[in-house]
Amino acid sequence: MRFVRIDRPEKKNALTLAMYEALTDALKGAQTNEACRVVVLEGHPGVFTAGNDIGDFMQNPPTGQDSAVFRFLLALVDFEKPIVAAIDGPAVGVGTTLLLHCDIVLASSRAKFSMPFVNLGLVPEGASSLLLPQIAGRATANYWLLTGEPFDAESALRAGLVSHVFAPEALEANVRRIAEGLAKKPAEALRLSKQLLRGPQRAAVREALAREGELFIARLSAPETIEAFTAFMTRR
Ligand code: COA
Repeated sequence: MRFVRIDRPEKKNALTLAMYEALTDALKGAQTNEACRVVVLEGHPGVFTAGNDIGDFMQNPPTGQDSAVFRFLLALVDFEKPIVAAIDGPAVGVGTTLLLHCDIVLASSRAKFSMPFVNLGLVPEGASSLLLPQIAGRATANYWLLTGEPFDAESALRAGLVSHVFAPEALEANVRRIAEGLAKKPAEALRLSKQLLRGPQRAAVREALAREGELFIARLSAPETIEAFTAFMTRR
């Protein structure tokens, strides 16, 4: 079992280029390490991640499919072992969309999800325009992606984005219990089962990532996006 922690609590775990690279390396390492049966992806108590670092979006924007954020998303899509995600507190932007690629998503009752792309002048990413309607239904996916409104753990549970909601103090023990249970199962049966669950759609997911990515990158330099980023970075 490998615990992968998003670890920048002073900035609400906002993801920088270097952090995406570290996450990609951690996934690739876990993929080839036979002793690793399961990956647990977690943040800190009270925060999963505030999404992409907005300063980084302005200074080091992704420029194509070989950029750090895309390499991370592709590593997630291609990862063959089960990923258990543990969400406590905010999961913003890619912090929510990456969950669509995790296999078991466990939340605490204080988890808060949001995909505020449109509000920032951006478009959905992480293959959410494909996967969210499939998982949550079109009405809910449209609402969340077009309004950017945050939603709570119970809504995420109803929509099928998470499988269980625990009290905050019980999250960690339950994550460990479920991940350890998976780690004891026959590894090849798990790998094949995940392949059956994910495999048929992988090509479509990659296409969605590319389609969204092209628009997302173009929108990063749109005046309304720069204005929204500047407003966040200079707020009091
Ligand atoms: N990029 C860069 N810095 C971020 C960040 C982000 N995405 N999210 C939070 N931070 C920084 C804040 O600027 C602040 O830094 P400072 O202490 O140097 O001023 C610090 O993290 C704490 O954030 P703060 O907003 O004060 O915490 P909060 O508990 O009030 O709110 C969030 C937490 C996640 C709701 C809020 O920070 C937020 O909305 N962040 C932006 C999310 C976003 O739009 N992400 C991009 C999606 S595409």
